[in-house]
Amino acid sequence: MTNAEILPENTPEIPDVTFKVIMLGNSGVGKTCLAIRAGTDNFQTTIPTLGFEIININVRYSEKIIRLQIWDTCGQEAYKSIVSKFYKQAKLCLLVFSIDNKKSFNDLDGWLSELKDNGDKNVKIALVGNKSDLDKREVTKEEELNYKIKRNLDLCFESSAKHGDNSKDIFIEGAKLIYNEYKKNAENEEKNKNLKIDKKIIKKNKKKNKKNENYDEDYDYEEYDYDDVKGQHGSCKKCF
Ligand code: GTP
Repeated sequence: MTNAEILPENTPEIPDVTFKVIMLGNSGVGKTCLAIRAGTDNFQTTIPTLGFEIININVRYSEKIIRLQIWDTCGQEAYKSIVSKFYKQAKLCLLVFSIDNKKSFNDLDGWLSELKDNGDKNVKIALVGNKSDLDKREVTKEEELNYKIKRNLDLCFESSAKHGDNSKDIFIEGAKLIYNEYKKNAENEEKNKNLKIDKKIIKKNKKKNKKNENYDEDYDYEEYDYDDVKGQHGSCKKCF
C-alpha cells in the first residue's frame, strides 16, 4: 500500500522538513496511545494528557526524512480553550473518535469548528475511528465514510492502537499527503519566480531595443527572451 516507512525512535537522521500535526478528539478515545504505538510499536496504557504533549515521528518518503511534530492535545473540556491556541500552523489534523463511543463521534463537529476557527485554512484532516479491536461498536463504517464525505475530509481510517492495526499507516499516509502538497507549492513558487525573472529580462530587452537605431516598431520583440534572441539571430539587424 505504501512506499514510505516510519523510522525507529531516536533516529539520528536529520529531517529534511518538519510539519506540525495536531490530534483532536474527546478524552479517552486513544490519541496518545495511537501516537506512541506509531512511534515505538508499543501499546502503553497512559494517563490523561494535561494540556498537550509533543511526540516526534520521522517518516522516510520520496528519499526525504519528514518529521511529524505531533501535538497530542488533551480532550478534556476544561482544557479546550487552552488547546485551541495550539492549532495554528498545523498542516495535518487527526480527528479521533472511538468506534465504541457514539458521543465521541457526535462531538467531532465541535472539534472541527474549533479547528476551522483557530487553525490554518489549508490544514488537511484525517478522520480516525480508533479501538477497532473492540467487539462493541456504536458507530458503523458507513457512518464514518459518510461523515468524511459530507465534511469533505481528506483521509479516513479505522485503527487499533492496542493491536497496531493502521496505527502507522495513519501517520505515513498523512505525511505523504502534506509532503506532496508542500512540494507542489514549492514547485509553483519556483515557477512563479522564474516567470518573474523572464518578464524582467523581456522588459530589459525591450528597453534595450528601443534605444537601438534599428528598432523596428512592427517587430514582436517580446516573442523572444534575451538569450533566445542573442543565440538565434546573431548579427541580425533586429538584434542588439
Ligand atoms: P486524553 O489524553 O484524556 O485526551 O485521552 P486520549 O485520547 O489521549 O486517550 P489515551 O490514549 O490516553 O487512551 C485512553 C484509554 O483508551 C486508555 O485506557 C487506553 O488503554 C485505551 N485505548 C487506547 N487505544 C485503544 C485501542 O485501540 N483499543 C482499546 N481497546 N483501548 C484503547
